[in-house]
Amino acid sequence: MTLEQKAAQLVQIPYAQIGREKSEEWARRGVGSFLHVFGEDAKHLQKIAIESGAKIPLLFGIDAVHGHCLNRKATIFPTQLSMACAFDPELIKRVAQAAAKEISADGLHQTFSPVLCLGRDIRWGRVDETFGEDPYLAGILGAAMVEGYQGEDNAADTSVIACAKHYIGYGEATGARDSYDTSITYRKIKDTFLPPFEKAVKAGCASVMTAYGSIDGTPCTADKKLLKEILKEQLGFDGFVVTDWQNVSHLIGEQCVAENAKEASRLALESGNDMMMNAPEFYVAIIDLVRSGEADEKLLDEAVERILTVKMRFGLFDNPFRQADEKYLGCEEHLELNKEIARESTVLLKNDGILPLTGKNKILVVGPSADDIRCNYGDWTYFSHPLPDYDTQPVRPYVTLLEGVQELAKKHDCSVQYVKGCEINGEIAGGIKQAVKAAKKADVIVFACGDNILLAAEGCDRADVRLPKPQRELFTALCNTGKSIVTALICTKPLCIPEIDEHSAAVLTNFNSGMFGGRALAEAIFGEINPSGKLPISFPYHVGQQPCYYNQLPGWHCRSYVDMPETSLYSFGHGLSYTSFAYSDILFDEKTLTLKVSVKNTGKREGAETVQVYFRDLASSVMTPVKRLIAFRKVQLKAGDSQELTFTFTRDDFSFVNANEERVTEPGEFELMVGGSSADSDLIKKKFTIGMAPKSWTDQ
Ligand code: GLC
Repeated sequence: MTLEQKAAQLVQIPYAQIGREKSEEWARRGVGSFLHVFGEDAKHLQKIAIESGAKIPLLFGIDAVHGHCLNRKATIFPTQLSMACAFDPELIKRVAQAAAKEISADGLHQTFSPVLCLGRDIRWGRVDETFGEDPYLAGILGAAMVEGYQGEDNAADTSVIACAKHYIGYGEATGARDSYDTSITYRKIKDTFLPPFEKAVKAGCASVMTAYGSIDGTPCTADKKLLKEILKEQLGFDGFVVTDWQNVSHLIGEQCVAENAKEASRLALESGNDMMMNAPEFYVAIIDLVRSGEADEKLLDEAVERILTVKMRFGLFDNPFRQADEKYLGCEEHLELNKEIARESTVLLKNDGILPLTGKNKILVVGPSADDIRCNYGDWTYFSHPLPDYDTQPVRPYVTLLEGVQELAKKHDCSVQYVKGCEINGEIAGGIKQAVKAAKKADVIVFACGDNILLAAEGCDRADVRLPKPQRELFTALCNTGKSIVTALICTKPLCIPEIDEHSAAVLTNFNSGMFGGRALAEAIFGEINPSGKLPISFPYHVGQQPCYYNQLPGWHCRSYVDMPETSLYSFGHGLSYTSFAYSDILFDEKTLTLKVSVKNTGKREGAETVQVYFRDLASSVMTPVKRLIAFRKVQLKAGDSQELTFTFTRDDFSFVNANEERVTEPGEFELMVGGSSADSDLIKKKFTIGMAPKSWTDQ
């Protein structure tokens, strides 16, 4: 390959932004990749590429982050935060397999998914894209997604390249400001933020994306220790690193660590980035740098080798036009899977006994989220990226909450009236008055509230994460009618809703739960399903209470604000059921590190419980969290049935990263906790000891 061909191979061009003609020029030049180009346009560019220069096939990438949602014909699954509520890696793997077929049906090869950032500050606009706040859960679900996307046979037409992102600590930025700096240390990175990426790399993830942000003043894209030493050398990552959108030029204009395109390009390449997303300037700059001896061509060779190796691994050289059958797009099987995961992701947060609804009820459905399917879709769909068109009309099939309630009401001998009442973030003239009037004739109110992607998405961070004022006012008016209220939270992420919890008889959510999430909520309200979802993220009472994730360090002297409790409103792992479960016979064998626990369905109807296991290192050389999730398992039990579960751990499961940035398990006292949520009130605790590590033969 010539120097020019090598330089072009490292560039990823945004088709939607530069258009057909300029894209054809890049294809002739031997560019490595495009993003956001579909179908016939992609085929056209591929034909040019394999007939030009080094004849290297193009790689096409896309943001298919909860299904292939930029395509109107595709299946729009729940967002990651919603799917995480299912606590079911097998189910998520199946969703990723389905999404991979639909992505490939458009002739695409790479999806910029899964997101492995942790959602630990709900002010951030992209919490919905994460699997929540816990490193272990994010890692298990992220690895399952990688396996689902990439398949057993990476070269199969139904497999696509996964891309673990955003490396690293993106959601931890100071003030939850998107793409901003975070003051975490490398020790903290390795202990808390790296584990999900380790699991993804172990699962064979073929690409990783560098985050927009910076760690203590060093942009991730310019951080050689992060990209080369930790990711490529220590984790053994053998795929390619792609930057996020214009990260190279951001080094100049936004992060101010480079004066010009040449400096930025050299910095990005030397730091370990292999593919530069939307960085056309990189092409000329790197050629000049190599020609003038200011950059080592060997670095280009290393990056080209990584990219070509992945293209070969995924069959692009054997068949540049590899494509799954178009029949997969939005197919019946995927729609049924979508319904299944929306049901599994439905979380019952509060219930004073009003649910499931029984008997003849006059139901008033009210609120701005009840009948707008866009509220169920979250970000990265055909009306939000890459060319936002929020007013576009959503395409069928889908079922909103209102439609789900109307459909099931007939079966349950109930009547339904609907009043919108207000907009997501705006008033409707006379809306509250109309809602109150209707409420007076109703037996029960279903209040559908939340946010939308104009309030929470990439580039939409919020300082005040309460329900928007018009919705709060509508809710207060409904409370004053004295009628029982069932609140359905249709939101991108946790909101601060203490008043909703206090005055609702029941509260349930499945976040942005895709095409059929509204129906799943309706099925839970009528008891057609017994909700079994668990929260992957904490709900704070107030934004000032953050960070309120469950795995906090000890040491807070007053343990609570004077004006706010220490605990969150709803804890990580919380989720109620229409039945009840009891835990017993908890035995832990310190020698084999094996835990046995029995769980029984003590209620009157079948249900599923996600048994959660946490641990604490009671004394460690650096401070470690008061509890950390170490295992979970979802069990389906008929009324009266019980099941004994066995969990077998290794010493490494009880490890942390010490002050020398080494992952260690220190001997001493530990505590194991088992139950149905991370709340202390839900956990049974047992102390145990881990002894010195057995001496390996090399030590003797
Ligand atoms: C965006 C996002 C990233 C996405 C990329 C390509 O700005 O940060 O998650 O994959 O650009 O669209």
